[in-house]
Amino acid sequence: MQIIHTVSDLRAALKNQSSIGFVPTMGNLHAGHIQLVEIAKQHAACVVVSIFVNPLQFSPTEDLANYPRTLVADCDKLAIAGCDIVFAPSVGEMYADFDGKNLNQSMTILPPPIANVLCGATRLSHFAGVATVVMKLFNMVQPSVAVFGKKDFQQLFIIKEMVRQFNLPIEIIAGETIREASGLALSSRNGYLSDAQRIQAAQLNSALRAIVHALKNGARDFLNLENNATEQLNNAGWEVDYISIRSSLTLQPAQSQDKHLVVLGAAKINNNQAGKTRLIDNIEEDI
Ligand code: PAF
Repeated sequence: MQIIHTVSDLRAALKNQSSIGFVPTMGNLHAGHIQLVEIAKQHAACVVVSIFVNPLQFSPTEDLANYPRTLVADCDKLAIAGCDIVFAPSVGEMYADFDGKNLNQSMTILPPPIANVLCGATRLSHFAGVATVVMKLFNMVQPSVAVFGKKDFQQLFIIKEMVRQFNLPIEIIAGETIREASGLALSSRNGYLSDAQRIQAAQLNSALRAIVHALKNGARDFLNLENNATEQLNNAGWEVDYISIRSSLTLQPAQSQDKHLVVLGAAKINNNQAGKTRLIDNIEEDI
């Protein structure tokens, strides 16, 4: 496995590859990421994993500085998983006009309006930052296949839309969310939680599962289901950002005739040491 830090070295290493599978990450890898690598291996001769904590997708109040950076451990895991190339660029390599303080990326991808709801309602330019860095990474790696986790359902939706609207010759594949036995979705941000908080954190998934259960039993009062779950979580000490039942095809709020649904949630759990940790989860369900 090669570990590469510059775009020119990456291009040289990939020059003669017949097919490239790509998994973009921000590092601090867990079993969810490794599963994405395994999927990429099934679709391409050469698998590239990028590790880059992208400043453009963090707002000034978010956890950019504290985001866990664990390159050595990540590379060990990727070597075992059979990754061929790790691409770990510096901020200056990704953003050519970076002056040590400002990224100076004056051209960005403007995502569709769906980027302004759910996670985008509170994380204002988050998806513009994600789409811009993913476009840059796609241009650097030039994969035929790229694999994204379903846990970030809205991100996956926006990336698919970007690929479609910009005619990128890349197949986007979605990897299932990997969970702890409690139901808690694996996430790098779980690392901020104590053991006790990890147990409590499974309540987010339980709330979503309860909604799915009700939907399967014929409940169609979406607003009521969302409000009940929000109230329950808030009463249990969470600070709910949103609980939302949507069409999994369009990500628009669900209509009673919709059959392909996704129940999404984002909420902050109180974490005494590190303030509040924001977790997200979703369950896609055809009813
Ligand atoms: O999902 C992530 O880890 C990031 O948003 C991504 C896609 C690597 C872009 O920075």
